[in-house]
Amino acid sequence: MLRYFTAGETHGKCLTAIIEGVPAGFKISVDKINHYLAERQKGHGRGGRMLIEKDTAEILSGVRGGISLGSPIAIRIENRDWKNWSEIMGTEESNGEKAVEFPRPGHADLSGGMKYDHHDLRNVLERASARETAARVAVGALARQIVEPFGVNFDSHVVSIGTVSDTADVNAPDFFENVHNSPVRFGDEEAAKKAMEYIDDIKAKGESCGGIVEVIIKGVPAGLGSYVHYDRKLDARLAFSAMSVQAIKGVEIGLGFDTARTHGSAVHDEIVYEDGFSRVTNNAGGIEGGMSNGEPIVLRAAMKPIPTLYNPLRTVSIKDKSEHKASVERSDACAVPACAIVVESVAAFEIANAFLEKFGGDCMADIRASYEAYKERIKNY
Ligand SMILES: Cc1cc2nc3c(=O)[nH]c(=O)nc-3n(C[C@H](O)[C@H](O)[C@H](O)COP(=O)(O)O)c2cc1C
Repeated sequence: MLRYFTAGETHGKCLTAIIEGVPAGFKISVDKINHYLAERQKGHGRGGRMLIEKDTAEILSGVRGGISLGSPIAIRIENRDWKNWSEIMGTEESNGEKAVEFPRPGHADLSGGMKYDHHDLRNVLERASARETAARVAVGALARQIVEPFGVNFDSHVVSIGTVSDTADVNAPDFFENVHNSPVRFGDEEAAKKAMEYIDDIKAKGESCGGIVEVIIKGVPAGLGSYVHYDRKLDARLAFSAMSVQAIKGVEIGLGFDTARTHGSAVHDEIVYEDGFSRVTNNAGGIEGGMSNGEPIVLRAAMKPIPTLYNPLRTVSIKDKSEHKASVERSDACAVPACAIVVESVAAFEIANAFLEKFGGDCMADIRASYEAYKERIKNY
């Protein structure tokens, strides 16, 4: 079983992730991790923080000569902003400056303060911040290296930002090439321009926006997950992990909510056989009965508008209970493109975990043997 922890505050010294359960003998490229960290920092509508940080991962353990050892892998990502915050966020001493008194609606500030009895809400926001997603992207970038040698690949794009939807065909051959070159991860250039204008407009008004992201996972063999165990259902795990990402408020797999608005024959994917089983359509989004069915897995997540507003909403002082405007912490106006990378990363972790549950072993050779035997068996099914 794979598991991971993250640690770190947004203006603390660094972020740390420990990923445990990576078998021995897998090629681990730190460049690949850095590639996805850079992707997370991109996108039209990001705030000043992303200009300061240039995220780079350092692998501290569990890898030797670019190959996993089977022991826990620790990853460290430095916070470059730390130099400006060391006296405020020091673990030994803090000067208590930049205290936060006015909880921001839509953030963890108020409930977190009450829960942990913090009277400086900075103690909450430092950890609740989506800066933590950099650690999760690093974990996902590592996890995908477990399944990529078996032909599994992941990609993501933005379906819509606010009221502007991408109009490109996801199945067009150059779709993802266009997405990768787009500042909003859209496939259609004209729609992307409209989305950027939309972001600029809401930003100028001191507003923020959200959007919908979609992750597409190809090459997953049929049978990952479980119809037997509720807690190993692949759709349940993907939904959990996507929902655990800051600001995600809804998750769909395949047709998702639309399945409830139409009839059975328009939803369920007919089965055909030609050199193996396949489907005429993929409304199920690659998962039936809690298991992958061999079709691409399609996962969508809805991100709410960024809660920190430069034109802040009303709130109340946690000290004297007087009415105030919410605190403003340096913030993005739109982080939907980055969110696509984060959801893709947490999904990669879940797929790698389900893959190891099915084919698990201590090392690449055992996993490869188990995978090949399974592929052979289902080929003759
Ligand atoms: C990639 C990413 C970047 C984010 N950037 C910001 C930001 O700059 N400012 C902000 O207020 N919220 C930002 N958020 C959202 C908050 O972290 C999130 O809404 C908050 O922690 C409250 O959690 P909840 O929305 O899950 O309830 C971001 C979220 C993601 C996924």
